Amino acid sequence: MYNLSKNQKKQYLDELIDFLKLPSISADPEFKNSVIDTAQWLAKSVSKAGCENVEIIKTKGHPIVYGEKIIDIKLPTILIYGHYDVQPPDPINLWDSPPFEPIIKKTKTHPEGAIYARGACDDKGQTFMHVKALELMISKNELPCNIKLMIEGEEEVGSNNLESFVIENKEKLKSDVILISDTGILSNNKPSITTGLRGLSYMEVKLVGPNRDLHSGLYGGTVANPINILCEMISSLKDENNKVTIPGFYEDVLDVNIDERKEMQKIPFDIDKFKKSLNINLTSGEKGFTTPERKSIRPTLDVNGIWGGYIGEGAKTVIPSEANAKISMRLVPNQNWKKISKLFIKHFKKIAPKSVQVKIKTHHGGQAYLTPTDSIAYKAAHMAYEKSFGKAPYSVRDGGSIPIVPMFEEILGCKTVLMGFGLDSDAIHSPNEHFGLFNFFKGIETIPYFHKNFVKLIKQNKV
Ligand code: BES
Ligand code: MN
Ligand code: MN
Repeated sequence: MYNLSKNQKKQYLDELIDFLKLPSISADPEFKNSVIDTAQWLAKSVSKAGCENVEIIKTKGHPIVYGEKIIDIKLPTILIYGHYDVQPPDPINLWDSPPFEPIIKKTKTHPEGAIYARGACDDKGQTFMHVKALELMISKNELPCNIKLMIEGEEEVGSNNLESFVIENKEKLKSDVILISDTGILSNNKPSITTGLRGLSYMEVKLVGPNRDLHSGLYGGTVANPINILCEMISSLKDENNKVTIPGFYEDVLDVNIDERKEMQKIPFDIDKFKKSLNINLTSGEKGFTTPERKSIRPTLDVNGIWGGYIGEGAKTVIPSEANAKISMRLVPNQNWKKISKLFIKHFKKIAPKSVQVKIKTHHGGQAYLTPTDSIAYKAAHMAYEKSFGKAPYSVRDGGSIPIVPMFEEILGCKTVLMGFGLDSDAIHSPNEHFGLFNFFKGIETIPYFHKNFVKLIKQNKV
């Protein structure tokens, strides 16, 4: 339907570069104004695409950008969700080029070139595909349905203010399906649609020992060292089979039946390539499950960061007074993240020796999600990928989390379709994040097919 011309491609890419230059780091209060600037930039671009009622909606945190194009209220409505905030770029010294000075480089995976910048893939580049696809359809008068766009600025910090916005604006956001591009495909010649997201429970723990850092000669051997204790406690959270040892952790997990697991094995996965891409000699995970299973249908627990004591130059002889860690648990359908957080707290307090005090904070979390694969929307997405890639897409359950997706369904009563275009190797959340130009343009070409097929299938279904 839309084969982008050279000029169009250049234009879209130049605009994406401008978008990526804005450091919309939601986690860092120092970037509050940059986040606002980014929302304003995006709102302008959404207006330019032809949307109406474009608003920058203030929240207690970062603003939400909203826009819509209602062509006929009798036609189906698609609600597009994305996020314009990005992860902090740290560690900055590991970037080959500055994170907010986008550059294009050719790589083996991306021979057509990829754009390097924080947020290139997650999720500015993918969100921007929708803005451009809309612009194309509106300019040609070919938009087949109504569109509502809701792009938030707090996804990477837990979407804390989105729920109340959605609750208060149920009518405004009313739609037939929610469409999100914030996931990936297997590879550029193996398209796939994400059919599952994992849930998340994120904890922060602190162990407090003596009331101050102590001389490790004068006191060493007489008091508990909170870092030593923390290491022992953390290592006990998984057993020799890499099962999480928190009592009740697996209680609600729905086992995936053998037929489904067999079906999963048909999805191409090259373990040697996987190991090579990460420079590791051996994979590791829960006994009895394959690597693709471990990262999609099974829950897990990981330490994300650990700190305490002296970490400056040279050597300082101290017994630290405190030790800290951030620990996340990825969850699967039917596990309740709030229950899991409680089980974690109970267990972690129980295994702590009396020599330390334990303080635990629950950060954000969310439920896992499975998208239906027998819906009209899923069929429309399937047809769209098949058309633009020339190959039927695989259905793949992903390991990442987008906690607001189950919340949308609960509040708006609306299912989601996950049409992502990134690659696992695009280094989201890592240094040198990038997004393939092939993927960016393919996204812009695929989205209009979805809209068209969705409307067509709904009409067919009615007769
Ligand atoms: N876009 C990602 C989630 C994702 C990426 C899902 C790739 C599937 C495939 C999203 O921006 C993200 O990073 N989510 C966080 C959770 C959030 C609450 C910070 C995550 O998964 O860690
Ligand atoms: Mn994202
Ligand atoms: Mn992210």
